[in-house]
Amino acid sequence: MSATRVSSLSAPRLERLKNRSAAIGIIGLGYVGLPLSMLLAEAGFKVTGFDIDQKKVDSLMAGKSYIFRIPSEEIESIRSKGFTATADFSKLTDMDAIILCVPTPLNEHHEPDMSYIVDTAKMIAPWLQAGQLVALESTTYPGTTEEVLIPLLEAGNKQGLKVQGPEGEPAESGVFYVAFSPEREDPGNTTTARHNIPKVVGGHEPIAAELAATLYEGIFTRAVRVSTTQAAEMTKLLENIYRCVNIALVNEMKVLALRMGIDIWEVIDAAATKPFGFQAFYPGPGLGGHCIPIDPFYLSWKAKEFGFHTRFIELAGEVNEAMPEFVVAQVAKALNKHKKPLNGAKVLMLGMSYKKDIDDLRESPSLTLIELLRDEGAEVVYNDPYHPTVGRGRKYNLNMTSTPLENLGQYDCVLIATDHTDYDYARIVKESQLVVDSRNATKGIQADNLVRC
Ligand SMILES: NC(=O)c1ccc[n+]([C@@H]2O[C@H](COP(=O)([O-])OP(=O)(O)OC[C@H]3O[C@@H](n4cnc5c(N)ncnc54)[C@H](O)[C@@H]3O)[C@@H](O)[C@H]2O)c1
Repeated sequence: MSATRVSSLSAPRLERLKNRSAAIGIIGLGYVGLPLSMLLAEAGFKVTGFDIDQKKVDSLMAGKSYIFRIPSEEIESIRSKGFTATADFSKLTDMDAIILCVPTPLNEHHEPDMSYIVDTAKMIAPWLQAGQLVALESTTYPGTTEEVLIPLLEAGNKQGLKVQGPEGEPAESGVFYVAFSPEREDPGNTTTARHNIPKVVGGHEPIAAELAATLYEGIFTRAVRVSTTQAAEMTKLLENIYRCVNIALVNEMKVLALRMGIDIWEVIDAAATKPFGFQAFYPGPGLGGHCIPIDPFYLSWKAKEFGFHTRFIELAGEVNEAMPEFVVAQVAKALNKHKKPLNGAKVLMLGMSYKKDIDDLRESPSLTLIELLRDEGAEVVYNDPYHPTVGRGRKYNLNMTSTPLENLGQYDCVLIATDHTDYDYARIVKESQLVVDSRNATKGIQADNLVRC
């Protein structure tokens, strides 16, 4: 890239990004956007968070967090450093860079739901300014940035701005820059500091790549540049599909190991001592969260356009989706050994979150487990310190309240669905009639009333 091209329009912004005096707008203040805003604000950038959810905006402006793992003191801290939140998109005109962190779920047909990206692009477009960088972080199929985001930004802006194209075209005075950089947040991970996770960046063209990489290098130890936005989009999907497929493999091996009377968790721990060529994945009651159960289907959907059938993804989906039913069958089998039917059994389910020590229950297998157990006639209650109540979501309507962990002997079965660290598993096994553990949370405990599955 020539120095002249950077200097005409993008140079002042590039300089502000380098010295961290740039104004950054984050769109979507959820599990991804809020922590990202915090990293940027702590690094000295002028950060404005934008969200259509006025409650979130009000909460942040009052210095209050709505995400369990983020203490309110940290919100107060970034407020004191100039962070503001707003639902007023006209303020986007003041931003040097705009980062999109909006949801990318599946619709009822298990296809990508692009409505959040489309709506957000339409909301940004009228306020877009020449020279601004727009970076998309939402996980999505390869081609979204080029085929969905850029056309909407070009069509909707008031000044007739165009995305910066290849060398010399269109004229720099009327351009904005676009990049894709996937989020690699791992909720609940306390071992890898977020800023130490390298950030993959793909620009629509070299200036956008330079601007985006400079921005992210201000908060992450390393930006990893790839040649296109599509490569960056595909990188994120490869990472999550790799995880989805390996979890399916280990789930399948667990079902077989149980039949063979082999402890799969012991096997995984032993295999994990191999210093090369093996990465440990763990079986469980099914996939959860906003990423692993969803993202692979973004690629399968796009693959159809190329006449390609993603067999690994479909098979992994099939295996993983069967896990909640497998766990319920194990509960029924364990109760049967106690001469009790599942129909009418009192079941206490431990853990509502999709994984331990977090407050996120999107796509949580616990929600499916409750549904399946109730279908079989079981009376289900739950306990989860992260979810005092569970009301209504996109795919559930539970209206349940967390039951205290008392008088455990009253339940016919205690089902461990999420292995939160705070639970005293030895006490739970000791005081319960029957414990079915789908997470190996009771590792090291031997008892006749304990079944691992
Ligand atoms: N949660 C994770 O751990 C994680 C990890 C990696 C990648 N991702 C990806 O990041 C993206 C965001 O996920 P999330 O978990 O932060 O979602 P989220 O639901 O927690 O947050 C999204 C936020 O966007 C807001 N929003 C929706 N439409 C908007 C609009 N038009 N304008 C402004 N705000 C709008 C919502 O009100 C919400 O606050 C998704 O694509 C997801 O796949 C998430």
